[in-house]
Amino acid sequence: MTIATVTSLAIKGATLLLGKVAIIPIIIVALAYYNYDLMDPENYPKVTNNIRREYDFVVVGGGSAGSVVVNRLTENPAWSVLLLEAGGHETEITDVPILSLYLHKSKLDWKYRTQPQDSACQAMVDRRCCWTRGKVLGGSSVLNTMLYIRGNRRDFDQWESFGNPGWGYEDVLPYFKKSQDQRNPYLARNTKYHSTGGYLTIQDSPYNTPLGIAFLQAGEEMGYDIVDVNGQQQTGFALYQYTMRRGTRCSTAKAFVRPIQLRRNFHLSLWSHVTKILIDPVTRRAYGVEFIREGRKHVVHARKEVILSAGAINSPQLLMLSGIGPRQHLQQVGIPVIHDSPGVGQNLQDHIAVGGLIFLIDYPVSTVMTRLVNLNSALRYAITEDGPLTSNVGLETVGFISTKYANQSDDWPDIEFMLTSSSTTSDGGTHVKTAHGLTDEFYNEVFESINYRDVFGVFPMLLRPESRGFIKLRSSNPFDYPLMYHNYLTRQQDVDVLREGVKAAIALGETSSLKRFGARFHSRALPNCGHLPLFTDEYWDCAIRQYTMTIYHMSCTAKMGPPSDPMAVVDPELRVYGVSGLRVIDASIMPTITSGNINAPVIMIGEKGADLVKRQWSPRRKRDNVTSDE
Ligand SMILES: Cc1cc2nc3c(=O)[nH]c(=O)nc-3n(C[C@H](O)[C@H](O)[C@H](O)COP(=O)(O)OP(=O)(O)OC[C@H]3O[C@@H](n4cnc5c(N)ncnc54)[C@H](O)[C@@H]3O)c2cc1C
Ligand SMILES: *[C@@H]1O[C@H](CO)[C@@H](O)[C@H](O)[C@H]1NC(C)=O
Ligand SMILES: *[C@@H]1O[C@H](CO)[C@@H](O)[C@H](O)[C@H]1NC(C)=O
Repeated sequence: MTIATVTSLAIKGATLLLGKVAIIPIIIVALAYYNYDLMDPENYPKVTNNIRREYDFVVVGGGSAGSVVVNRLTENPAWSVLLLEAGGHETEITDVPILSLYLHKSKLDWKYRTQPQDSACQAMVDRRCCWTRGKVLGGSSVLNTMLYIRGNRRDFDQWESFGNPGWGYEDVLPYFKKSQDQRNPYLARNTKYHSTGGYLTIQDSPYNTPLGIAFLQAGEEMGYDIVDVNGQQQTGFALYQYTMRRGTRCSTAKAFVRPIQLRRNFHLSLWSHVTKILIDPVTRRAYGVEFIREGRKHVVHARKEVILSAGAINSPQLLMLSGIGPRQHLQQVGIPVIHDSPGVGQNLQDHIAVGGLIFLIDYPVSTVMTRLVNLNSALRYAITEDGPLTSNVGLETVGFISTKYANQSDDWPDIEFMLTSSSTTSDGGTHVKTAHGLTDEFYNEVFESINYRDVFGVFPMLLRPESRGFIKLRSSNPFDYPLMYHNYLTRQQDVDVLREGVKAAIALGETSSLKRFGARFHSRALPNCGHLPLFTDEYWDCAIRQYTMTIYHMSCTAKMGPPSDPMAVVDPELRVYGVSGLRVIDASIMPTITSGNINAPVIMIGEKGADLVKRQWSPRRKRDNVTSDE
């Protein structure tokens, strides 16, 4: 590993130098450094050794949402807050944008896989899709590709129209802004949509290839505007913005947890796997949780609330393990039912894209791993905080477009193009192939011949799927992974929209802006679809079921809704129906998935959720809409 080499060279150099000086100054310097380290707000937060028996709030899961929640709740010095996280700390590798694919299937990944189904992921090993999820402080924001997309205003207005007051676009916009430190001065000036000074750093990519700009021009050629996709109008093309700080990953652990490590009312327990929420069967109040740390079982009590932020797979899993879920299912696996809640684990939504739409080009401008990851780029990364290592595996440009199935006059696009100066083949069939779980036969047949070639990729992503998946327990053992059913492409409408997305992607490759690079579609027929005439609707309908690429946006598995909705798991204040003292605050609570990558909306949910908690427990603040203490 290049970075490791640089580091070890540096360490060797330092040892050589230090060998010649006296030992006392070294100790002094080391102590000073140790102290500095302790105070440095950007350093890894300290783990609390002695966990108390009781806190005001116990938060389960320190991911995108949980990190925000603990930050905001500890703003009140009178409240004690414990964060329990199953994973450990981030690493040097997680900081480097171009290495994000190395994190899939690593120790930091839960390594979930779906049940095999016929409708999608047919090119994957065992026909199972790989559902990467972060098992680390910062959660999936430590493994993600950092794309910062807020979604469409209509998504939130629709949530509100389902009977969730306070969740319309005008209500949630202040929470997006509350987190934000917008580093693009031009956008920062537009204070209706952006703000500066928040914990979460948002910046442009420090590194773009000529393809990034060519994609914008191609979008214009197709009649689209160049816009701020997080502003007034979503339809159009833009260079992506990222949750990045000075060229390195700005996870929610870095943004929201590291700066609060010196707050005395904040305790942090890592490598702590929560196995159950403790609920008094008589009063029906959640009063604590059980967790395993270092092989031993611990119990901790919550005076005010237990807050579940374990993500869209583990939050519903924990609810079910604790007796909240569909009655019949709980009885099947032998869990005593505390509250029959049929919606737990249901309504699962995700974004999928079509993988492998690759265009060969004639110029050496692509993000090819072997060319870009070297000593030179490592030094550029370390010293000037830019260069190829800050590239997000080539993800440069976004396009929000409407197929013929979307309302053209409505600015509510149904496809997002993720445009990359690289593709599955750019690392020669190593990390991308493994991350996506493609079989060797499929990869070799379709892609091997173009390993490391200069290419670009278009990934059309279906924004508002109609298909719904679900998760259920395999058993009552909390360490058994739940069973996950994606149900991708089980509704014809989804097939139709995605097929049109593919056609639009091919059309994009035909624009003169990209033809300039010699762009030509890599048209190798997919093994399972070879019996169909290439590029007919039937062919595409087959193709999209082969290399079906999850964009890792699992959500909606404990949706919020009004009491009249039997499938709602939490109310519009995110309190779990049927028990008191328990909330869910994470991607699970979305009633429908937002139109775009969902990390920014999940962080917004963390901000708004924390505010709802504050309002409940400090009545005098009730009148402010967005609290801003400290
Ligand atoms: C590979 C990948 C790429 C992505 N790319 C993007 C992108 O570019 N842009 C974007 O907007 N979104 C992206 N996403 C999606 C986005 O990152 C997630 O939707 C978001 O992080 C989910 O936040 P969350 O708080 O709901 O869950 P998570 O962030 O997953 O947090 C859940 C936390 O709970 C912990 N936990 C779970 N169970 C337990 C337990 N029993 N006890 C204790 N702790 C537990 C987990 O370890 C984890 O830390 C990506 C996701 C992945 C995985
Ligand atoms: C399309 O959107 C416009 C603007 O919101 C709306 O007035 C119109 O009724 C919509 N058309 C259809 C067919 O839904
Ligand atoms: C606060 O909420 C009230 C009632 O929901 C609303 O009328 C008002 O516009 C909101 N104020 C701000 C600043 O968002």
